[in-house]
Amino acid sequence: MLTLDHHPSGRHFLQIPGPSPVPDRILRAMSLPTIDHRGPEFGALGLKVLAGIRQVFKTQHPVAIYPASGTGAWEAALVNTLSPGDLVLMYESGHFASLWQKMATRLGLQTEFVAWQGQDEHLPHAPSWRRGVQADLIEARLRQDSGHRIKAVCVVHNETSTGVTSDIAAVRKAIDAAGHPALLMVDSISGLASAEYRHDDWGVDVTISGSQKGLMLPPGISFNALSPRALAASKSAKLPRAFWAWDEIVEMNKGGYWPYTPNTNLLYGLSESLDMLLGEGLDQVFARHLRWAAGVRAAVTAWGLPIQCADPAVYSPVLTGVITPVGVDADAVRRLIHQRFDLSLGTGLGKLKGRMFRMGHLGDSNDLTLIAMVAGVEMGLKLAGVKLAGSGVHATMDHFTHHAAPAALRAAA
Ligand SMILES: Cc1ncc(COP(=O)(O)O)c(C=O)c1O
Repeated sequence: MLTLDHHPSGRHFLQIPGPSPVPDRILRAMSLPTIDHRGPEFGALGLKVLAGIRQVFKTQHPVAIYPASGTGAWEAALVNTLSPGDLVLMYESGHFASLWQKMATRLGLQTEFVAWQGQDEHLPHAPSWRRGVQADLIEARLRQDSGHRIKAVCVVHNETSTGVTSDIAAVRKAIDAAGHPALLMVDSISGLASAEYRHDDWGVDVTISGSQKGLMLPPGISFNALSPRALAASKSAKLPRAFWAWDEIVEMNKGGYWPYTPNTNLLYGLSESLDMLLGEGLDQVFARHLRWAAGVRAAVTAWGLPIQCADPAVYSPVLTGVITPVGVDADAVRRLIHQRFDLSLGTGLGKLKGRMFRMGHLGDSNDLTLIAMVAGVEMGLKLAGVKLAGSGVHATMDHFTHHAAPAALRAAA
């Protein structure tokens, strides 16, 4: 059991890539009394959040909201659209893609796991975990599948285990170029509301997301954004489903209600989150995350440590993974930083255990919070005996000094 070496005063630095810090405004909204989920007041709340969340996914089509973590919404996407024994093409981008693939197998689906097989200097055992989805590999596999045995292609938009994003429009293009009818399912659990996302424009059939990342809510609600093709597939899909079934949810949502007792107080929080995000403007939200990510990466570059994402074109705006030198246990560094500075960082998951840690820069944050995070990490690395090439804190401060936030520029004008 980890304990701090003193009673912590001040606030904890929650810098994992989700759950992200929940703004006071959302916590206050969630503290309102729970109401009758069949009453008129609730119907208005339901309609409001259902309309708002469609704007965030950039879709005209229904979005199912579940009282479940993201894992539940993964299952919902699969069981609503597929039948026992169906073949699903999944892409190994990291730990979350691997967990989704395991789930598909448990549900009685056949899975094929595509991975990039090139050489990697720093992580030779996990080259595919340092790069985005290679759409050409998907296209090549679909072209071989002339009998259309593959029923769905599943990819992760923002791999939270690695800090790598993927080009979803390119995956759609690859499916279309192969002339293949497979559904496209995308996990944007940690991308939505932090990184640009367009469910309709990118031709996604089911997008899966969760509350505890860019939406700045506690864990506990998750989403399936649907397409007309996904809804049509759900009519003939044979995997058993009851709680996750879209048909009753979509029908009752027309009046702002759910077939079961919804998570009322989290929906109050969602309503507040939507007011904040749509009030700020999604483009501004994405620009804010891109700028923060660049500021944090400047620190890692100054330290002289490798960034987990090997391709600058797909750096995540949400988190940055840092590979520790061979022989330095990344989890020991993380524990030390937590103990000394009350700062939580993300652990290396699956194949990355002990080899890297993750710095979250998403949601309700600001420049000084991120400079403090970088300072905590820098002190921890030094205490762990890691030789650093230079000061990450100075690099991040320089970045934020010379790249003013668009909102600050507007205020000064
Ligand atoms: C990309 C991604 N997919 C799936 C999940 C699983 O979601 P949950 O832990 O909410 O069930 C997570 C959780 O962090 C995630 O980041």
